[in-house]
Amino acid sequence: MKNNNGLRSVGIIGTGSEVPPRVVTNADLEKMVDTNDEWIRTRTGISERRIADPDMATSDLAVGAARKALAAAGVKPEELDLIIVATVTPDTLFPSASCVVQDRIGARKAAAFDLSAGCSGFVYALSTASQFIAAGTYDKVLVIGAEMLSRITDWEDRSTCVLFGDAAGAVVLAPVEDGKGFLSFELGAEGGGGKHLILPAGGSRLPASARTVADKQHFIKMAGNEVFKFAVRIMGEAAVEVLEKAGLKSQEVDLFIPHQANIRIIEAAAKRLGLGMDRVFVNVQKYGNTSAASIGLALDEAVREGRVQSGDLLVLMGFGAGLTWAAAALRWV
Ligand code: UT7
Repeated sequence: MKNNNGLRSVGIIGTGSEVPPRVVTNADLEKMVDTNDEWIRTRTGISERRIADPDMATSDLAVGAARKALAAAGVKPEELDLIIVATVTPDTLFPSASCVVQDRIGARKAAAFDLSAGCSGFVYALSTASQFIAAGTYDKVLVIGAEMLSRITDWEDRSTCVLFGDAAGAVVLAPVEDGKGFLSFELGAEGGGGKHLILPAGGSRLPASARTVADKQHFIKMAGNEVFKFAVRIMGEAAVEVLEKAGLKSQEVDLFIPHQANIRIIEAAAKRLGLGMDRVFVNVQKYGNTSAASIGLALDEAVREGRVQSGDLLVLMGFGAGLTWAAAALRWV
């Protein structure tokens, strides 16, 4: 199970996901803000999204997804060495969501931390987790992307509230036979673009106060057009780069699983890669943009729908707040 670098090969041995039961359709949003189903579908590809009820928190979705991923992998919580939760909406700023999950699933010996890289967080976390296993430090790592952007969305701002949804996606990583599992990663950041997608208040720069609440500074602020241009550029570039690193060509990709933010961004990336949409997984129409949860959720659906077979070449690709991006090429175990 050692590759050419003397490192262990690392793969995904189980997937799971969880979404809240409440469906919010475009028609429901028409009653809340000045928007319409046609605009939302043609500009974003989204028809509906899942929104958590007030009594739920991000860790509730994370725990649900984690339990399913562990069952699929045949791994007991006590066997886990590490839990990483990628999120920008943890239950509390601290303790981390990963510590809540560790306690609730009974992963007694697992270390736990959260990772913040916006919608790229899940692939950033896969890369981080796989280093621990490749080096032989850990054997079994649980990676979860979990998010409740509904809690930081301004439900009076039509330019953002139609886009987002709540969800969690989880995977279990372990050593796998050589030639399978992760082949390459490509991570990056352009911090100068951070202002284009930001939660201004609640941190050390602008602590919570009556004023920040009155000014709606605890809600997502996004320059949609700027993020759109960045996403289209980076999706193409990073996906090509991650394949080059693995010595592969885009024509060899069996399934491309991009961050589900906007169908137009996904189609532009597929075109850039020369991939037909039959080799691209899309579920943005059902869930909207679920940030760090989206790739894990999409991967789990793809697996459950039988769209991922042993030996298939997959590319996972995220972009988001930071601004950040992260891509992974992997051969399914
Ligand atoms: O996970 C990473 C996070 N973010 C993203 O991936 C978002 C990337 N950006 C996008 O997906 C797109 O930029 C949006 C979907 C957010 C917006 O689409 P767009 O084609 O860039 O539209 P726009 O912002 O240029 O707005 C076009 C028009 C504007 O009206 P005017 O100024 O042309 O009269 C907006 O006011 O559409 C209007 N508009 C809406 N109309 C109906 C904006 N939001 C809505 C809405 N319903 N919900």
